[in-house]
Amino acid sequence: MHRWFPNRDATFAAGLAGQVPRMPANPEHLEQAALEHLPAEVWSFIARGAGSGRTLAANRRAFNRWELVPRMLTGIDTADLTTKLFGTTLTAPLMLAPIGLAGLAHARGEAPAAQVVRDLGLGMILSNSSSLSLEEVAEEAPGANLWFQLHPPKSEALAVSMVQRAEKAGYQTIVVTIDSWTRGWRPADLDYAYDPFLRGHGMGTFLADPEFCRPLPSDVPHGSKEWNENLATRWREVFGHSHLSFDYLATLRTVTDLPILVKGVLHPDDADLAIEHGADGIVVSNHGGRQVDRSRAALDALPDVAARVAGRVPVLFDSGVRTGADASIALGLGADVVLLGRPWIYGLAIDGANGVRHVLEAVLAELELTVLMLGAGTVGELRRCVEPAYHARPREAGDTHHDRRPS
Ligand SMILES: Cc1cc2nc3c(=O)[nH]c(=O)nc-3n(C[C@H](O)[C@H](O)[C@H](O)COP(=O)(O)O)c2cc1C
Repeated sequence: MHRWFPNRDATFAAGLAGQVPRMPANPEHLEQAALEHLPAEVWSFIARGAGSGRTLAANRRAFNRWELVPRMLTGIDTADLTTKLFGTTLTAPLMLAPIGLAGLAHARGEAPAAQVVRDLGLGMILSNSSSLSLEEVAEEAPGANLWFQLHPPKSEALAVSMVQRAEKAGYQTIVVTIDSWTRGWRPADLDYAYDPFLRGHGMGTFLADPEFCRPLPSDVPHGSKEWNENLATRWREVFGHSHLSFDYLATLRTVTDLPILVKGVLHPDDADLAIEHGADGIVVSNHGGRQVDRSRAALDALPDVAARVAGRVPVLFDSGVRTGADASIALGLGADVVLLGRPWIYGLAIDGANGVRHVLEAVLAELELTVLMLGAGTVGELRRCVEPAYHARPREAGDTHHDRRPS
């Protein structure tokens, strides 16, 4: 069955009537288009990375070190992208990465994105820094495959409360982010002196938590200057547990039955440690180049981590995925599921639910086409289709034919 790419026929048909799509198909154009829909400081907060932006750029460049090698006339006519993990079935190995503060991009926060992934049969990892509360997102998108991402807070009682609320609201897993107990050095945010959290954004799940709200004064009007100051102080008090160890996973295990994944792994030894301490899944990620500038590109880390994990638990991947061909490379290098990050927020900012759908359908269509045109047929088969880029391969003696010019 061809599920996603035939949609492009409708685009070409509309073109005959003089209509062109509202949103670009090219992901680089998408980032630029989002600039027209977001204040400059918000766009920078989303788009830019840590330090000199070297890791942000390296995440993209790393894809150039690999190539897909298609096989022809294989007779393969259908692509099965179905993916099963943690007891749920996704129509494709693609989910939305946790991105906090979606309310900066859209008045309805994360809700439109959750509804779109539900309708497409995909999944979404909701950030604990969501603009709506985790309960509101679940209520707005009944039946959606939602996972909950936790930045371990300093207060253990708050962690327990948020995790148990997520479990009660029907979230399927807990994704513990381990690479951002504090924010990276981000020059663009400093130049704008812009910290959305200090302005009260990204607090939906915190403000719905009795444990978070307990010390907040009850007689101060919400939204007032005094309220915002109290909120910022409380948030600073709880955010970011700086002296955690992998034992934290064992602590979480005692308070939830949900699978626990660890997000932010780049070193194979950390993948080992996470699994030894009970992790049920690993997310290879460098937080989209927002944390440690000049850290390794996530795609460069993926093959070694996947080899070390060796199928013991699922491996997920993000940081730099923009297209279906990118997703094919990451899946071919050992990821079981790929997470789409910044592009879905751009889609949301530009055109709400339609924008998120547009972005996801473009990736899905190209992924489906790529799998088919490689002669692969299934996601698993992608593993035999990815090779180091031809011109990056070490030359063997006498191997000079690619330097020859036609005579
Ligand atoms: C604006 C923004 C907010 C983010 N918030 C979170 C978050 O709350 N929790 C988290 O684990 N990762 C967060 N991330 C990181 C993403 O989950 C993901 O790792 C990253 O976006 C991948 O890089 P890419 O978008 O360049 O592909 C955020 C990323 C961005 C751009």
